[in-house]
Amino acid sequence: MAETVRRAFVCGHPVAHSRSPLIHNYWLRQLGLSGAYERIDVPPEGFPAFLRDFPRMGFVGGNVTLPHKEAAFCLACATDAAARQIGAVNTLWLENGNIHGANTDAPGFLANLDDRAPQWRDAKAATVLGAGGAARAILYALKESGIENIRIVNRTPTRAMELVQGFAPGPSAHPWESLPPLLADTDLLVNTTSLGMGGEGRSDFDLAAMPRHAVVADIVYVPLETPLLRVARLHGLATVDGLGMLLHQAVPGFTRWFGRKPEVTEELRELVIADLEAGK
Ligand code: ATR
Repeated sequence: MAETVRRAFVCGHPVAHSRSPLIHNYWLRQLGLSGAYERIDVPPEGFPAFLRDFPRMGFVGGNVTLPHKEAAFCLACATDAAARQIGAVNTLWLENGNIHGANTDAPGFLANLDDRAPQWRDAKAATVLGAGGAARAILYALKESGIENIRIVNRTPTRAMELVQGFAPGPSAHPWESLPPLLADTDLLVNTTSLGMGGEGRSDFDLAAMPRHAVVADIVYVPLETPLLRVARLHGLATVDGLGMLLHQAVPGFTRWFGRKPEVTEELRELVIADLEAGK
């Protein structure tokens, strides 16, 4: 009897821009596996039915992207600790017929930092720009990593306060104006805001006060070098772009669906960069 081809999906709305098919199909080819990874546009009103039906449609699981991550968290039968603290699920799979959900953004972020700037593990103080859904995943990751002093800086201070309340004790909330003094003892600076996305936004970050050993990371990957990363590079600081997080967050899902742990290679990175360039 022919072996059934394992099929996984990425669902979102819109989903045309998703690079996940490129990443997973690269790994399938590289590992010589006969699986498939498909892109499915699911509008919000159709998401509960899609979640119920995907096993019958022949899928073993998949990725969930905007705007369904919170709904996936509410609807999954079981979730991992990261998903519960972040309140969002980006990876689904079946276990004994039940739908399980995980959030792999946080481990993906940490794996990327380990890969590109392993010295970040010595950091004692981290400063995170932004207090939205992405900041929640980064805050979870940093707290899990055991970093002692985490500061959230946001344009709307109340959002920063609400975010840190969910992660008490430890992280503190600060208004945007407090950034300059905080930078002086920041070992790791992470941007989670949409500032710099698509090349837009301010580029007047003054990072001169940062310690020379500091690492500056952005989770935005279009452009690959955001205004923040550019300024950091010009100051001679180590920089980590957002593309690696996208690649590393995909590893746990692939491993579950297809049974092999894939590698984040320079070749894969170049493939996605070429696709981003072509889509400009
Ligand atoms: P996501 O889920 O991707 O994090 P979000 O919840 O809309 O998206 O959050 C976007 C983040 O970018 C917020 O921290 C937002 O700041 P506010 O809470 O003050 O809105 C931040 N942000 C967006 N545009 C910004 C700008 N021009 N200057 C500073 N912060 C900005």
